[in-house]
Amino acid sequence: MGNYVKRFSAFDRVVHWVLAIAFFVLVMSGLGLFAHTFFSYFDFFGGPEQGILAHKIAGIVFLITSILLFFAHAKDTCRFDSDDGRWFKGFGGYLSKDQPEIPQGKFNAGQKLFALFSIIATVILGLTGYVIWDPTSMERGLTQFSLMLHGLFFILFVMGAVVHIYLATIGNPGTIDGMLWGQVKKIWAKKHASKWYQEVGGKD
Ligand code: HEM
Repeated sequence: MGNYVKRFSAFDRVVHWVLAIAFFVLVMSGLGLFAHTFFSYFDFFGGPEQGILAHKIAGIVFLITSILLFFAHAKDTCRFDSDDGRWFKGFGGYLSKDQPEIPQGKFNAGQKLFALFSIIATVILGLTGYVIWDPTSMERGLTQFSLMLHGLFFILFVMGAVVHIYLATIGNPGTIDGMLWGQVKKIWAKKHASKWYQEVGGKD
């Protein structure tokens, strides 16, 4: 495949898509639990009881896959350098048309931030989810505090995921190829991740 460069293993991709499906189930069933307006969303699952069960199962699947995804990419997402600082200063070039491309590693600074936010939010949602699993079993104050944090991180995560999905699809054409087929066009790699492209043996 002369025009392509390998980006993600089959393991990376399966973990990511299982995580994305679990997230979708969590959002649909979570909205039913979150506000009365969305109560009818439980109908997708066959009723409130089944919706809550789906939320618990998807929560466990999400927790496991999110931790796996984080460790699969940690060596690329937990390392920030001065180019990342320049990327943040210029908002990744998203606010100006003629800003030169800032060299980036496998993931750009914004993606690294999202990956770190994802794992922190996952841990907080997992811990608070454990406390509210059976709302009558824990101390009242702790349950109420956990409910508040769970709702807050749910909203933040949905906002982050909307931005992530937009940037990984319409916002940056060609990005989705890596998560679908495991490889991206060399021209994509040179533009979006030039330092990574050099590292994996790309030539100008
Ligand atoms: C339809 C939904 C989704 C699509 C189309 C999508 C697409 C993608 C793509 C294309 C990548 C690779 C980016 C690259 O090669 O540079 C990626 C990475 C990633 N995705 Fe998703 N994704 C979706 C849902 C999610 C959800 C729901 C989460 C978390 C809750 C998530 C978390 C991540 C993380 C942590 C990475 C690695 C770092 C990053 O790119 O920010 N994704 N996604």
